[in-house]
Amino acid sequence: MIRVGIVGGRGLSTILGFKALDNVKVEALCDLDEDLLKEQSKKHNIPKTYRIYEDMLESQIDAVVIATPMQLHVPQAIQALEAGKHVLSEVTAGVTMDELWWLVETVEKSKKVYMMAENYCYIPENQLIRNMVAKGLFGEVYFGEGEYIHDIKSLAKYDDGRSTWRKFWQLGKRGAFYPTHSLGPVMQWFEGDQIEAVACVGTGWHTAPEFRQEDTTITLCKLKSGKLIKIRIDCISERPHNMAYYSLQGTKGCYEAPRGLGDDHKIWLKGMDENTDIAKWRPLRDFYYYLPERYKNATEEHKKAGHWGGDFFIVQDFVDAITKGVKPAIDVYQACEWTAVGLLSELSVTNGGRFMAMPDFRESTREEQIIKL
Ligand SMILES: NC(=O)c1ccc[n+]([C@@H]2O[C@H](COP(=O)([O-])OP(=O)(O)OC[C@H]3O[C@@H](n4cnc5c(N)ncnc54)[C@H](O)[C@@H]3O)[C@@H](O)[C@H]2O)c1
Repeated sequence: MIRVGIVGGRGLSTILGFKALDNVKVEALCDLDEDLLKEQSKKHNIPKTYRIYEDMLESQIDAVVIATPMQLHVPQAIQALEAGKHVLSEVTAGVTMDELWWLVETVEKSKKVYMMAENYCYIPENQLIRNMVAKGLFGEVYFGEGEYIHDIKSLAKYDDGRSTWRKFWQLGKRGAFYPTHSLGPVMQWFEGDQIEAVACVGTGWHTAPEFRQEDTTITLCKLKSGKLIKIRIDCISERPHNMAYYSLQGTKGCYEAPRGLGDDHKIWLKGMDENTDIAKWRPLRDFYYYLPERYKNATEEHKKAGHWGGDFFIVQDFVDAITKGVKPAIDVYQACEWTAVGLLSELSVTNGGRFMAMPDFRESTREEQIIKL
């Protein structure tokens, strides 16, 4: 039996996933908010509650889901790993380059499972495209895009006017402070590649100059293969949200996610039309037979966990990593590389958009843990 403790109310998004699995039990919930503890533990039948995280770590649990504000992820992950617990962490992995290396060192030393819960990787269309890339249907893929457009200005304040953590750790940062939703799925389409360098430029401050974050930033990730990924983050502009826009270009085809107003996921593959002058998009839904088997076979119980089973499969992958010893679906090296894109983009944007070299989290020694310009 794997006993799980959740810290931070948002971590309850995993609860239906855990409940759908045998031999797993959510045993404890920890949050500073006593009302939340009372309500949610009752609603989900969670036997133990804690306000103090360290107290929960001393209890009989085997794994922790960390869903507190971003700046707490690494300290709480390290505490959990040192206490012998496996960790499923919300995004992003951390907030400074140095703490990411510390996280990697602790995971390696602890021999426990660390996985980042990047749920946008589990969006069915992103999984479907991943499968089609693996089957070579796009030929050689060489350009991808991800956009996260989500006006979060109202989340910088509580109802009573006090500032929340998001004011400082998200809107208080320059660059792509929240890159993993946009980048993660695209990086999975470029499986085996790694990011070599990151550059970022912004539009300046027009809508809400009280924040450090510019209206829009564009971040370019140059891969070791020379291929390119472009990320747009906009959490300031006043406009409809679009948190999951992606595109992909390969030698034999391309894909674009919807941008709104009746738009749909669409695809074009070489051979569909005689030439590109008359090339027409086809709906991606015509290709749903390329969905991974487990998505096609998702039960009502799996789907109930959220996002067409995506929220269940995250939990399933985490538990499989613990029980079967398989590589976590998004391991600490991927978590740190994807997160570091945001941290390096901040340095880049404050240095006129120059490329910042990505360290290799798999290889690095303490002496190499410098940021190369
Ligand atoms: N993957 C996604 O789609 C997604 C969506 C939203 C938020 N997030 C991530 O989830 C995390 C939480 O975001 P949120 O919107 O729920 O924030 P929030 O501010 O609404 O909630 C944070 C919760 O953590 C609790 N908390 C804070 N410090 C604590 C501590 N030391 N010990 C115990 N509990 C503590 C708070 O009481 C609160 O209930 C963030 O890292 C955010 O980036 C991810």
